[in-house]
Amino acid sequence: MPNEASGAPKFEARGVSRLFGHGKKTTLAVDNVSFKIHDKEIVSLVGQSGCGKTVLAKMLLRLEKPTSGELYFNGKPIGAEPDARVHWRQVQAVFQDPFSAFNQFFTIRSQLKSSFRLFQQQPPEKEMEERVDQALLNVNIKPREIDGKYPFELSGGQMQRMLLARIFILRPEVLIADEPTSMVDACSRASILDYLMKLKEELKMTIVFVTHDIGLAYYVSDSIYIMHKGQIVEQGPPDRVTQQPQSATTRQLLDDIPDIHRDWVSRSAPKATAAG
Ligand SMILES: Nc1ncnc2c1ncn2[C@@H]1O[C@H](COP(=O)(O)OP(=O)(O)O)[C@@H](O)[C@H]1O
Ligand SMILES: [Mg+2]
Repeated sequence: MPNEASGAPKFEARGVSRLFGHGKKTTLAVDNVSFKIHDKEIVSLVGQSGCGKTVLAKMLLRLEKPTSGELYFNGKPIGAEPDARVHWRQVQAVFQDPFSAFNQFFTIRSQLKSSFRLFQQQPPEKEMEERVDQALLNVNIKPREIDGKYPFELSGGQMQRMLLARIFILRPEVLIADEPTSMVDACSRASILDYLMKLKEELKMTIVFVTHDIGLAYYVSDSIYIMHKGQIVEQGPPDRVTQQPQSATTRQLLDDIPDIHRDWVSRSAPKATAAG
């Protein structure tokens, strides 16, 4: 059977829920969500802290299982393949805290190289080195700059770029970016958004961007999903969602936009480019 059922969306969720705990102490982290994410689409999941964004993102990554409902990737149930690595070759993530993704005791370069372990076949040594160098250049880091360096020797913004370099090495079909800009300074934030756009343009990736900032979501996405208490309460194109919000949650999120993003959203003219 072909890997991609023709025309199937990248992801399809049908009534997906994730419940934690049991008895009286339960949390319905994700509550009966349904959606289709299409190939090469950038979808932003937006909502306040605790609304279920990360749990939903982890289900797409096959790091959490739905307690009910069905979740498909390329037309096949996500859990059907016994080897989860098959999914991780195609769906990769960058998280809020880049340091948590790297081991403090190994050099950054050796860890970037170890990304190739996920592949079925490891390229020859020389090719691996070249691809690591190329990936570093893609995120504007001179390979020599990080030679022999350990994670604690880099800033949060540089480490986030290392995670993105890993994505340039692995070239997954889908990138899940869970609040990748929330722990870095404003300058690194802008460049991380630029790299997300570059991944979309150059690698033709599908991207799920998780954020509590609807201003950032407006800037990068094709579709915005607004989440509240585990549910998707509104979804649509960024212009519609921001100009004609239909839920109280969306209106609240618009009120919460940091001032530095406000002019992007209020400008209904063509979207600013990532190079901005
Ligand atoms: N492993 C877990 N066990 C119990 N509750 C959890 C677990 N993970 C998340 N939750 C709960 O699920 C809800 C949604 O969490 P999360 O998806 O992390 O929110 P967000 O990413 O939107 O801030 C929260 O109430 C959180 O406390
Ligand atoms: Mg989260």
